[in-house]
Amino acid sequence: MKRIISPSVLSADFGHLADDIAMLDRSEAEWVHIDVMDGVFVPNISFGFPLMPPIRKGTKKVLDTHLMIVNPEKYIERFAKAGADIVTIHLEATDDLHGAIATIKKAGVKAGVSIKPKTPVSAIVPYLNELDLVLIMSVEPGFGGQSFIEGSTEKVAELRREIDRCGSQAMIEIDGGITLDNAAEVYAAGCEVLVAGSTVFASPDPEETIHKLLNV
Ligand code: DX5
Ligand code: ZN
Repeated sequence: MKRIISPSVLSADFGHLADDIAMLDRSEAEWVHIDVMDGVFVPNISFGFPLMPPIRKGTKKVLDTHLMIVNPEKYIERFAKAGADIVTIHLEATDDLHGAIATIKKAGVKAGVSIKPKTPVSAIVPYLNELDLVLIMSVEPGFGGQSFIEGSTEKVAELRREIDRCGSQAMIEIDGGITLDNAAEVYAAGCEVLVAGSTVFASPDPEETIHKLLNV
């Protein structure tokens, strides 16, 4: 199964953002993960539209945009216009998930939906045939640098079974607490895309760490 690393810009050095984006551009990471937090859906505020143009300018990699915001429908088109290639919203953030997925597709980008640690895989099953990506949160969303929640690997395995059963094309991505120690088990459970924030950016050689995460 294909392996993709999506380093999270949340852990980058915003004082030297262009350098960090250039490093990701040189690296073996195929995607760049962009964590947008509104202080309402999650208890933290990160960044929004102003960071999209400099990131888009600095790399041709796939911009994997993770919206941790309420009323995501309102902002999907703007993120697509700002250069997102994938827009992922939260199942818990909307009352009309079918409608929100349609809005993402209408904006001409790939559609992802994320579920929080306490949301069961069964909640996403009715949507699998509409999706390009399902993002399993392996920490409570809001902050980088947290520890991987046990049981997340089992959720990946369950989701893999459901996706294979219904013939969905959706890729599986995992986000939160990914390290060189747990990457192998999530790949083995059927996950294709690993988000990594602190593991990449807090390491002495981020490019080498990306290489290692791909080759555990
Ligand atoms: C958390 C974010 C994650 C976070 C991951 O809400 O969605 O993408 O940046 O950071 P690490 O890899 O440090 O857990
Ligand atoms: Zn994220």
